[in-house]
Amino acid sequence: MKATAIANTNIALVKYWGKRNEKLILPYNSSISMTCHGLFTITTVEFSKKYKRDIVIIEDEELKKDEKNVLGHLERIRKMARIKEKAKVVSKSNFPIAAGLASSASGLASLTLAATKAVGLNLNKKELSILARQGSGSSCRSIFGGFVEWRKGKKEDGSDSYAREIVDEDYWPEFRIIVTILSTEKKKVGSRVGMAQTVKTSPYYRGWLKSVEEDLRIVKKGILARDFTAVGFQAEYNCLKMHALTISTKPPILYWLPSTLEIIQEVFSWRKEGLECYFTIDAGPNVKILCLEKDEKKIVKRLSKIKGVLKAIVAKPGEGAKIINEHLF
Ligand code: PMV
Repeated sequence: MKATAIANTNIALVKYWGKRNEKLILPYNSSISMTCHGLFTITTVEFSKKYKRDIVIIEDEELKKDEKNVLGHLERIRKMARIKEKAKVVSKSNFPIAAGLASSASGLASLTLAATKAVGLNLNKKELSILARQGSGSSCRSIFGGFVEWRKGKKEDGSDSYAREIVDEDYWPEFRIIVTILSTEKKKVGSRVGMAQTVKTSPYYRGWLKSVEEDLRIVKKGILARDFTAVGFQAEYNCLKMHALTISTKPPILYWLPSTLEIIQEVFSWRKEGLECYFTIDAGPNVKILCLEKDEKKIVKRLSKIKGVLKAIVAKPGEGAKIINEHLF
């Protein structure tokens, strides 16, 4: 009753922002992401009678407050498998968690795969995606590799709200996302709260829902055609609209730091110069730059000269979640 899984995180090119059902984590809009090679979480899960309660250790620290809904997720899986045994979970990521880097995506995707395997449920990818979604929305996309689409679905029970692959990780191997780390501090307003506040108070939310359909169409078509300009431009536009939403909530949520804005301005001016790149930002200050392999080194060099940039990590399209044989305990 023990298994270990590895999952890469994913970064959305068209963001998921707003839930129509908070309990089942059903989104108001569909989203598209790239699964990022080399930005991963490894999770080992063991269910056993020897554990008197669930023990969850994330980055060497025992989880006391269940912010990531890990305990609820274990309970969900126990119910599915009709078992009573408590679990020990050890999870490690190779990048800073909770800084708007979608660590919940790789965390919950690896937990879902490891835990279901440990209890002997052999779920297919669609079933894994539906289950992962209930732990953390964006994690349903990390089950798959390459470029991934999470279709929002219509049903009340969420059975049609899951991710699927648009193209695998080998389809467009030149695509790059450079993740800049500007702050490793835990974000002040998590995505759950940010989304709920947006749906409730932003006067622009209807506009978002109306215009996101076009973003999805253009980004998907651009991925299939390997049209970097189309994908980059629309992803950047979509990100700015998402942040316009959070800025317009009551009270306002501004995820950016001064260095976030500095990089945005730099990207605009690099583009003017002919160095083609775009940015995207999630629920935190860190900027992710989209570019092609041929410009990767130049951009990393330029980023290293910006004072606020602590680190820049380059990711190409990566694999979906998978089982590995080496356990963390
Ligand atoms: O699934 P969560 O709660 O980690 O929310 C993800 C929200 C964004 O990263 C901002 C957008 C997205 O689609 O990943």
